[in-house]
Amino acid sequence: MITFDISHMLAALSSVLDMVEKDLLGATSNHSKRVAYLCAKMGKSLSFSDEQLTALVCCAVMHDSALTEYLYDEQLRADIKYSGPMDCRPHCLAGERNISVIPLDPIAKNAVLYHHEEANGRGAFGKTAAETPIAAQLIHFGDQIDVQFVLSEMTEEKEAEIEAYLKNNVGVLFAPDVIALFRRAVTKEELYALDDEQINGRLFSQLNPLR
Ligand SMILES: [Fe+2]
Ligand SMILES: [Fe+2]
Repeated sequence: MITFDISHMLAALSSVLDMVEKDLLGATSNHSKRVAYLCAKMGKSLSFSDEQLTALVCCAVMHDSALTEYLYDEQLRADIKYSGPMDCRPHCLAGERNISVIPLDPIAKNAVLYHHEEANGRGAFGKTAAETPIAAQLIHFGDQIDVQFVLSEMTEEKEAEIEAYLKNNVGVLFAPDVIALFRRAVTKEELYALDDEQINGRLFSQLNPLR
């Protein structure tokens, strides 16, 4: 029987994407790995199978893989047309096309497409939490808290700010059950262990080899 250790493939892919996203988009180092780690913890808490967990982590690693569309949306289109929030739809659509070529568990379907939806329906495509696949909601959650708070450098002050942010966004950015899931799935110790030195080991220890 052939055993394929998906961790090695994802480690290489996420390292390349994180480096390019850092240089091109100004993302913090290892951003996609931290998003993927938070997703893995929450997926495990939901008793996802190994295949589901791998699909979720793969989508999380690749959530902003549509680099050229992202760059265009963020830096060019916004300058040319208007000064409001960036239109996330092109990089969501292109990212979904990227991930769809990888054979993954069906839980991956539309996970990248809808990673900028907000629970109240005011996100990129106007989907409410009830209309958004769970994998997309988890990626959105991990993405937003890492972008807002840079989880690689946790402090007690930041911890309090995250708590206030979550309270303010129940049913706004995030569904109440996603916030509750994060609280029970990710311990304080784990939240303080997302720095660049620890994130690789932490993330890839979550995945079992696929057969
Ligand atoms: Fe995005
Ligand atoms: Fe992101």
